[in-house]
Amino acid sequence: MNIALLGYGTVGSGTYELIMKNKEMIKDKYNIDINIKSILVRNKQKYENLEHYNLFTTDSNVIFDNDIDVVISLIGGLNPSYDYVKKALKNKKHVITANKDLIAEYFIELNNLAYENNVSLNYEASVGGGIPILRPLNSMLVGNNVDSIYSIINGTTNFILSQMYENNLSYDEALKIAQDLGFAESNPSSDVEGLDASRKLAILTMLTFNKYISWKDIKTTGITNIDALDIKYAKKLDKKIKLFAISKKSENGIYLGVRPVYIEKSNQLSKIDNEYNGIHIKSALTGDILIYGKGAGKFPTASSVFSDLISIINKSPINKINLGETTILENYPDSVNWFIRFNSNNFSKTTEKIFKVFNSYKFDLNTIEFNKEITVKIYNVKEEFIKKSLKKFEDESYKYYLIIKGDSDVEN
Ligand code: HSE
Repeated sequence: MNIALLGYGTVGSGTYELIMKNKEMIKDKYNIDINIKSILVRNKQKYENLEHYNLFTTDSNVIFDNDIDVVISLIGGLNPSYDYVKKALKNKKHVITANKDLIAEYFIELNNLAYENNVSLNYEASVGGGIPILRPLNSMLVGNNVDSIYSIINGTTNFILSQMYENNLSYDEALKIAQDLGFAESNPSSDVEGLDASRKLAILTMLTFNKYISWKDIKTTGITNIDALDIKYAKKLDKKIKLFAISKKSENGIYLGVRPVYIEKSNQLSKIDNEYNGIHIKSALTGDILIYGKGAGKFPTASSVFSDLISIINKSPINKINLGETTILENYPDSVNWFIRFNSNNFSKTTEKIFKVFNSYKFDLNTIEFNKEITVKIYNVKEEFIKKSLKKFEDESYKYYLIIKGDSDVEN
């Protein structure tokens, strides 16, 4: 089995090492000789000290050579990945990629192209790094009628928030470490603005609910506005802050959102820190399933790429993916609790307004807070009403957060 490897960055080099390490195992177990024939890179010189320098090339035609069976594309961004993958599938080569931008953007086209050419398109590493999640969702949980997915699926932002919370690091200090450790995308704005999580959530949702989701339609808020006070409030409330990606079936469609949330410490997902990802799936048949592991990094991600290779070696069936349509809901559909921060120059006026506007809700108000802030915790309200109420605060600036309850479902 001949492989063309595209890209030799963090995941590309990890994948190369992992395949070389397991060559003998594959020969023994499957009686197949795995042969990495070429490695496509932009600049060959960078690798001239490597023992396998002879494999490196800048000529993209090697991908489509007749003797290539599997193309492993580990380059980021849409271009030229899209052209390479499309052409590889048309040339009847199995494709493995970790590129969630590509898969989220061209989900239907690329899956159909693979099916029409009777080759497989594999992207286990595109969501959850080293966590086996797409294949279990796609095969083992089929027919389970999943109700919701609550997840932490961006390692970089989880790392930053954990470090800000646990070690009092600044946002910039934590981001720099995440980048140095190889978790962040080459352009970290897609991590911190939540776009990376949106793309992953779109992929997860399409495979789980069999509905087409354009990642651009997902209401997305990243962590760039999280400040030291948010962390301070979270500690005071005995909660944590996490960037959640939520997909939840509702009567009128699917609620999809990527947003920072305050989370009760008794919720299992609150314990998932640093580069770890966690995915909580709820279905009527299984109840709760929580799967967690390293969501980013060289070998965790390479391990998922490798699992795709084993799936090809195992000749896993190539299924057609048929997606229906759905309505994407922007507001969290259930009545839940919220934490709101008001910044005001006129405490008495804002306090008066809070009492008036939230009159019909149960809430706790705290005015002895830091700076010019008044905080309010509101109980058991739908987001659409919170938004309507907040429109009345045109003189104040505010931020509001969904509070995710603990495992006992009882809010503290
Ligand atoms: N930048 C991504 C993350 C890498 O931090 O989760 C893994 O997809």
